[in-house]
Amino acid sequence: MKVLLTGAAGFIGSHVAEALYTAGYGVVGLDLRTGADIRDDSALDQRLVDVDAVVHQAAKVGLGVDVTDLPGYASVNVYGTAVLLAAMARHGVGRLVLASSMVVYGEGAYACAEHGWIRPMPRAADDLARGLFEPRCPRCGSGMACVAIDEDAPTDPRNAYATTKLAQEHLAANWARETGGVAVALRYHNVYGPRMPRDTPYSGVAAIFRSALEAGCAPRVFEDGGQRRDFVHVRDVAQANVAALAGRRPGMLTAYNIASGEPHTVGEMAAALAAQRGGPEPVITGEYRLGDVRHIVASLDKASHELGFRAQVGFADGMREFATAPLGRSSSPQPPA
Ligand code: UD1
Repeated sequence: MKVLLTGAAGFIGSHVAEALYTAGYGVVGLDLRTGADIRDDSALDQRLVDVDAVVHQAAKVGLGVDVTDLPGYASVNVYGTAVLLAAMARHGVGRLVLASSMVVYGEGAYACAEHGWIRPMPRAADDLARGLFEPRCPRCGSGMACVAIDEDAPTDPRNAYATTKLAQEHLAANWARETGGVAVALRYHNVYGPRMPRDTPYSGVAAIFRSALEAGCAPRVFEDGGQRRDFVHVRDVAQANVAALAGRRPGMLTAYNIASGEPHTVGEMAAALAAQRGGPEPVITGEYRLGDVRHIVASLDKASHELGFRAQVGFADGMREFATAPLGRSSSPQPPA
């Protein structure tokens, strides 16, 4: 079976390429870093001949800097996916695995002891300024427990990247319905591992901490460090892509959380990396970013039952490796002039 892998030279894409080769797939790569753009019909037409499936990892990632980033997100992530799907239809390619993200959910899921399951609104700036970081029940104001989010949760994209990832899912669903194709969206949680792009405005927190430690600086942990995430190793994410190629729901898009199943706080992650590198110790700064969510942890029931997915790399082993693994250059290459 032959697969077109977009974003093949990127952080996650390069690991997906290795996993696909190892699983016996023929792989054709397409990546801006090697001069091929998903928005270019001719680049797609050359590469889609005799292809059976597309694994779409190419994207502009991260939080961006400000609104000047909006056209870039829309162009690469939304328009680029639309061009890709149209090209797949032209070439009769009926199978798609899409790199989506947990950011489509916005804030995680919570349970109030009195009012049950709650999806809170963005936290108030006043609360954050006073160091009140935990979302509170909108009905009674009391504290809530963070619970695992599943794929049926309503989506609530809160930044340009999240909005464009959700748009990719919707476009893929439209394509699947129109063509009878099979589409799988993998909602990655916080991916880390070798070749993760180093500290840029587009980097995730694990790369920021790792870059700081390499430069001899303390990781700066925002809020009180108690925010929970699921840090999932990039090799497990690559295996999830291989498993997703076997998806079997014609005419539909099916979404899956892809995570380790072993959530940790950002403070614990900083401490684990710092310990592995012999310091400096993390600093809890109390700073906050208005766009950040407090906790988000994944239910893996669906991925485990339907894809047979189960992460193999535990937190301690993964962070030990990541503490000294080589980092990549930049997460968002600019299109060639
Ligand atoms: C991250 C990615 C998002 C990706 C998602 C799932 C970025 C910017 N965010 O979202 O694109 O889709 O994972 O893989 O790439 N923090 C610090 N110190 C710092 C930076 C951040 O303590 O120097 C804290 C933040 O306040 C936040 C947490 O770390 O609470 C996670 O931040 P980050 O990795 O940027 O964003 P996510 O929301 O987890």
